[in-house]
Amino acid sequence: RAEVQAKSLALSEVMTSAGDFYRQQLRAAQNAIAYLKGRGLTGEIAARFGLGYAPEGWDSLRAVFPDYDIAALVEAGLVIDKDDDEGGRHKRYDRFRDRIMFPIRNTKGQVIGFGGRVLDGGEPKYLNSPETPLFQKGNELYGLFEARQAIRDAGYALVTEGYMDVVALAQLGFPQAVATLGTACTSTHVQKLLRQTDQVIFSFDGDAAGRRAARRALEACLPYASDNKTLKFLFLPSEHDPDSYIRESGAEAFEREVRDAMPLSQFLLNEVVGDNDLSTPEGRARVQFEAKPLLQAMPASGLRLQIVRGLAQLTQTTPAEIEALFELVQPVAR
Ligand code: CTP
Ligand code: MN
Ligand code: MN
Ligand code: MN
Ligand code: MN
Repeated sequence: RAEVQAKSLALSEVMTSAGDFYRQQLRAAQNAIAYLKGRGLTGEIAARFGLGYAPEGWDSLRAVFPDYDIAALVEAGLVIDKDDDEGGRHKRYDRFRDRIMFPIRNTKGQVIGFGGRVLDGGEPKYLNSPETPLFQKGNELYGLFEARQAIRDAGYALVTEGYMDVVALAQLGFPQAVATLGTACTSTHVQKLLRQTDQVIFSFDGDAAGRRAARRALEACLPYASDNKTLKFLFLPSEHDPDSYIRESGAEAFEREVRDAMPLSQFLLNEVVGDNDLSTPEGRARVQFEAKPLLQAMPASGLRLQIVRGLAQLTQTTPAEIEALFELVQPVAR
């Protein structure tokens, strides 16, 4: 147990030192500064998020870690260790090279991972730290450390897909934004957010991937949906993400989208109706079939009852029939 803790400590020290180095490198990197400026970011916001730059070299981190061969660098995911027999030119080399660096912090403010973006059209567009004992993607939200007070002040959290969405929203008046880290929104994410606030608004990209992300977020939310929590979904025009939308249309337009965000109940009903034909018995049965696992994932609540009523209306049945058909557990009578 003590050993694990010592290991985590070493990891977090390595990450912090690397973050400091990348930040310092950004100051002199004209190309990286030009890139960030080109995307509309100010120096102030870059500093607030601790943005940095990983230089081009294969072993730039030697400047910070003279003992470049220590296992901790590989364990931290900062250095890649290639097997000897692969015969590459470099046995060990920096994972992040010539990228804008976004440090990912845990709720204590420790750097636990990085996201690195290419400056041009290179692939992959984003490179992320691998999972380590300190960093589990399904548990962490980018920007949560920076957003905590703002979430309290605003009374809600915005959940986006991307690093750039978080930083742009913060710069343009929505510092209550966080992002999932290139993974689906998990129940752990939802739980973590609902510990901070009673209202969560999901704002994913307007494209097909963003709509799939919203669907998965809906499913992650259902076990935690209750009458004193508000969960909403904001759908942007298909060509936009929150960053591009707020830059093109402005903060007031984004604020209107926030205000008009779709409540969970409506999104759920839209999802189960899909393109089924409600004018036929088969279509209505299919809608019930789609709704069943979703409603079963919800604890008994007034909200669930409201959704059951909505579903009954759409499918020409009664709430009691739906509850019986879905074997929904009722709250214990008092
Ligand atoms: N992502 C990733 N790896 C990729 C592409 C995306 O991990 N190769 C993650 C990143 O966290 C990214 C998010 O998924 O921020 C959303 O992806 P995308 O919409 O493609 O990127 P944007 O955040 O919009 O990036 P940008 O605006 O910089 O192009
Ligand atoms: Mn996208
Ligand atoms: Mn984007
Ligand atoms: Mn995007
Ligand atoms: Mn809209």
